[in-house]
Amino acid sequence: MSATAKKQAPNAEDIRARKGGTPLVSLTAYTTPMARLMDKHCDFVLVGDSVGMVLHGLTSTLGVTMEMMILHGQAVARGLERAMLVIDMPFGSYEEGPQQAFRNAARLMAETGCAAVKLEGGVEMAETIRFLVKRGIPVMAHIGLTPQSINTLGGYKVQGRDAQAEAVLADARAVAEAGAFSVVLEKVPQKLADKITAEVAIPTIGIGASAGCDGQILVVDDMLGFFTAFKPKFVKRYADLGPMAEAGIAEYAAEVRARSFPAAEHVFADQAPAAKAPSKG
Ligand code: KIV
Repeated sequence: MSATAKKQAPNAEDIRARKGGTPLVSLTAYTTPMARLMDKHCDFVLVGDSVGMVLHGLTSTLGVTMEMMILHGQAVARGLERAMLVIDMPFGSYEEGPQQAFRNAARLMAETGCAAVKLEGGVEMAETIRFLVKRGIPVMAHIGLTPQSINTLGGYKVQGRDAQAEAVLADARAVAEAGAFSVVLEKVPQKLADKITAEVAIPTIGIGASAGCDGQILVVDDMLGFFTAFKPKFVKRYADLGPMAEAGIAEYAAEVRARSFPAAEHVFADQAPAAKAPSKG
């Protein structure tokens, strides 16, 4: 599939210009039908590497591959007309250095038509972000809790409490200065998130951060109640679709076993129904 920029969708500079304005709305998506449902409600849609845990049953995002991101990226691209498409760079696809990052980011853009990529890391990723942006690849940064680093962070902990605050602030300054057009703040204490939002010139996108951020993002399966393995504190359930889906499946199973499905209206007669006579006038 070749790159197909959506004419109506905002681009990275449109998103950057929303700093301090009406909060940016975003969700993750991994499939065409879900992308269609959120297209008119979101400013941007992220194909997050959370896809590995949410749809593929992985226990972390570390096993997610470029091929998975491209496949889901293409699916989501087919469902979007108005929202901007951003795709996560998976673990191992950019950390070696700017050249590796460029190669894989360019592949994501060329094969999915996404308008930007997201990568995790602050000060240590600034050089890579600068390299990508200078070569035509808009970058959304992601700091605070960076799930690809859970093994060095010691788990899914809040990042930036007490003495850690300066380091998270330094990360925010570094990615903004390197040219990122926005930055995700994940599991950053509220006051620190507000301070970063006030200080950096690019929009902050909160997830477990603060309502004062320039925008918010959630994993769609979390907020709709499809992903129930665990529920982080920062997730609000706006619907409970997992249990509803299971109830439907249980009813179907019972009806099949009772031979009450399929019913008369779901099966076909031996002969085709007579064609209707054409109406006059
Ligand atoms: O992978 C993901 O879904 C993310 C968002 C939750 C920010 O990175």
